[in-house]
Amino acid sequence: MTAPEQRSAFTAVILAAGKGTRMKSERPKVLHKICSKSLLELVIRAAREAGARRIVVVVGHERERIRKAFEGEDLIWVVQEPQLGTGHALAVTREVIGDEAGRLVLLYGDVPLIRASTLSALLEQHETCGSRMTVVTARVEDPTGYGRILRDGGAPRGSAPRQGAGGVEGDLIGIREEADASELERGIDEINTGIYAFETPDIFGVIERIPENEKKGEVYLTDAVALIRADGGVVSTLVADDPGEFQGVNSRSDLARAGGVLRGRIAEAHMEAGVTIVDPSTTYIDLDVEIGRDTTIHPCTVIGSGVRIGERCSVGPFTHLRVNTTMLDRSEVGNFTEVKNSTIGEGSKAKHLTYLGDAKLGSKVNIGAGTITANYDGVNKSLTSIGDGAFVGSGTIFVAPSSIEANGVTGAGAVVTRGTEVKSGEVFAGVPAKSIEAKKSRS
Ligand code: UD1
Ligand code: MG
Repeated sequence: MTAPEQRSAFTAVILAAGKGTRMKSERPKVLHKICSKSLLELVIRAAREAGARRIVVVVGHERERIRKAFEGEDLIWVVQEPQLGTGHALAVTREVIGDEAGRLVLLYGDVPLIRASTLSALLEQHETCGSRMTVVTARVEDPTGYGRILRDGGAPRGSAPRQGAGGVEGDLIGIREEADASELERGIDEINTGIYAFETPDIFGVIERIPENEKKGEVYLTDAVALIRADGGVVSTLVADDPGEFQGVNSRSDLARAGGVLRGRIAEAHMEAGVTIVDPSTTYIDLDVEIGRDTTIHPCTVIGSGVRIGERCSVGPFTHLRVNTTMLDRSEVGNFTEVKNSTIGEGSKAKHLTYLGDAKLGSKVNIGAGTITANYDGVNKSLTSIGDGAFVGSGTIFVAPSSIEANGVTGAGAVVTRGTEVKSGEVFAGVPAKSIEAKKSRS
């Protein structure tokens, strides 16, 4: 029997050589982000999660910028220049994969919603069927632009669709690109997602035999299906349940749509883990956020990557939690409050109109409405420290660095100047308004 870790060992090849013209951007397409992660990063994550032993990224346009964004990561870069089609793009990886026997999964840098579980299902199907090529397909309402899946009329052989995958029958016999498809073929609603499993070095030998497509002068990887079948090899399919996973990003509106899908998944996962999200459609939670049980997230709230929120907390409405924010259990951050690089201690509250930056709050602190930590003097960022049980009056400004010890109090409108340390139990109040003579003439 194969051990699970052995079974899932594979090489992921991610194609990212394309230009991304339709983004109309100075930034390479695969570096655009959704939920705080670049498109390419998301694909790499899925591959790693599915157990990829090695990840090869094929780059062309803007390759230096793309590489730089992943500096220090365990990735292998291969340059495809010029871009002569998907078959050619895979062929160039032979220079790093060589003749090593193994399994390979092909992915795309601009198809960011792919799930690790789908890749695992693909590998399982590939292995179970003893295939030389397994194609992930999906049935979609509008197949325009995609390669269509051609099947023979017979009963499935080595390509049994998974349960619930929706009534496809027969063996895969070919993939027809839209430009080459007949009227009848264009009516087929089962499409090629472009994600495959292959054997190496077998597939490299197959690609060498693929003739250039006459219309486009490209080497179509899809033509491998017919060649492998002609050899008597097994080509199987995995019919995916969720076509949304294969949505490519080509434009800014695709980017927004993909972001929406990913946000939905993130919210769903938190809710499943016991978090109440009052309105997921107006809640923006990035990837890599921790939220404890029975915490409630109110509407119109933005929570950035790396934020950690404990149990039974309350966040929002209209709250922005940024990088390095930690909220300990039972703490509350509410209306029009922004928090960055700060810790909100257990049971502490900052419920209205507040900015806490580079602040450390102990437990049971009450932050009055309109409190601001003035953490940045234009050159340096400094810390504000607020002890357990401190009561901070409305409109207090802490000019950092400054601090207030446990149970200290500030009065409404207090300006705690730079370097001030409010002692334990001390009441610190000041900057009172004075009566001034009203000006006579007003324009
Ligand atoms: C391809 C498939 C089609 C499938 C569709 C799914 C082929 C011939 N067709 O079509 O059946 O339905 O994907 O989206 O494979 N790329 C490179 N180098 C190249 C060419 C492409 O890196 O030389 C990359 C592109 O950046 C892109 C991806 O591969 O991310 C797919 O290429 P694209 O030209 O978009 O292929 P499609 O025509 O969409
Ligand atoms: Mg495409």
